Amino acid sequence: MRNPRDFGAPLAVGAPTPLLEIPFPPSRMIHFLDASNEKMVAKVPDIAKKTDILLGNLEDAVPVDRKEAAREGLVTVGQTYDLGETQLWTRVNSLDSPWVLDDLLRLVGAIGNRLDVIMVPKVEGAWDIHYVDRLLAQLEARFNVERPILVHAILETALGVANLEEIAAASPRMQGMSFGPADLAASRRMKTTRVGGGHPGYVSLSDPDGDNPRVTAQQDLWHYSIARMVDACAATGILPFYGPFGDISDDEGCEAQFRAAFLLGCVGAWSLHPKQIAIAKKVFSPDPDEVRFAKRVIEAIPDGRGVHMLDGKMQDDATWKQCKVMVSLAELLAK
Ligand code: GLV
Ligand code: MG
Repeated sequence: MRNPRDFGAPLAVGAPTPLLEIPFPPSRMIHFLDASNEKMVAKVPDIAKKTDILLGNLEDAVPVDRKEAAREGLVTVGQTYDLGETQLWTRVNSLDSPWVLDDLLRLVGAIGNRLDVIMVPKVEGAWDIHYVDRLLAQLEARFNVERPILVHAILETALGVANLEEIAAASPRMQGMSFGPADLAASRRMKTTRVGGGHPGYVSLSDPDGDNPRVTAQQDLWHYSIARMVDACAATGILPFYGPFGDISDDEGCEAQFRAAFLLGCVGAWSLHPKQIAIAKKVFSPDPDEVRFAKRVIEAIPDGRGVHMLDGKMQDDATWKQCKVMVSLAELLAK
């Protein structure tokens, strides 16, 4: 079985671009579980067969009077179920909340050897990661946890976006980062009421053109921040994820948002409903036709150097590297 924690050490900011083939376990979707809900916990064995990552959510969306039940429900999941190769994560409460200390104490104490990654919300700077890093080191020592628990930051405040490079490089425990559009919208005072996705008002109009109607094109509200997050993650050898898409009825919009993130470099996205698991699986697994083409390029330029024409398109050292990224992802998912 692959070790979900074999991510390799993150590289320092400014280090050369990391290897194209950093090994990581399949991580196309992080499926959110409300473990305070017994009916949902009963479905865990079935869900675990479908998702790459199962996450017990303790933070937002869990009401205050169910915080403890969500924590205990996750302990039950960790102690009861064999999840096979599916990673087990949690999203703890934010570091300024009254619950986070108990979240970490209880979970590391009870299921520290089962937990792969702790997602920390509303991370604003390297100091937040340093705090969690040291606390985890103490708890791991106290509870005889055998492998370091990794840390994943949600990028969802304006200050977090401003500091994202140093957050990504803050600790060797850093596994990755998720983009959190809902809290980020509030932090930036955007005039939206949504959880991710586009907005019909965020458009550009073509120039006036005589009697012809002007063309309207909806723009991506999140492009800048996701691209910055992907750069920071790639520069430090950790994994970028798109976060939530809240309109559960809009599969098409969800797929489009996930696809934009995939094309920009994200490895996965959150799933808030079982049907989003399937959407993420489709989007974040490379297209077989593209993989076939990428393999042809690699065969045509075995040492990755020089220029070659394939189907009328120029291939060279740089397209060879893109093809390696595509093929190594396909191979990783085929294992
Ligand atoms: C996720 O937590 C978000 O705020 O989008
Ligand atoms: Mg949030």
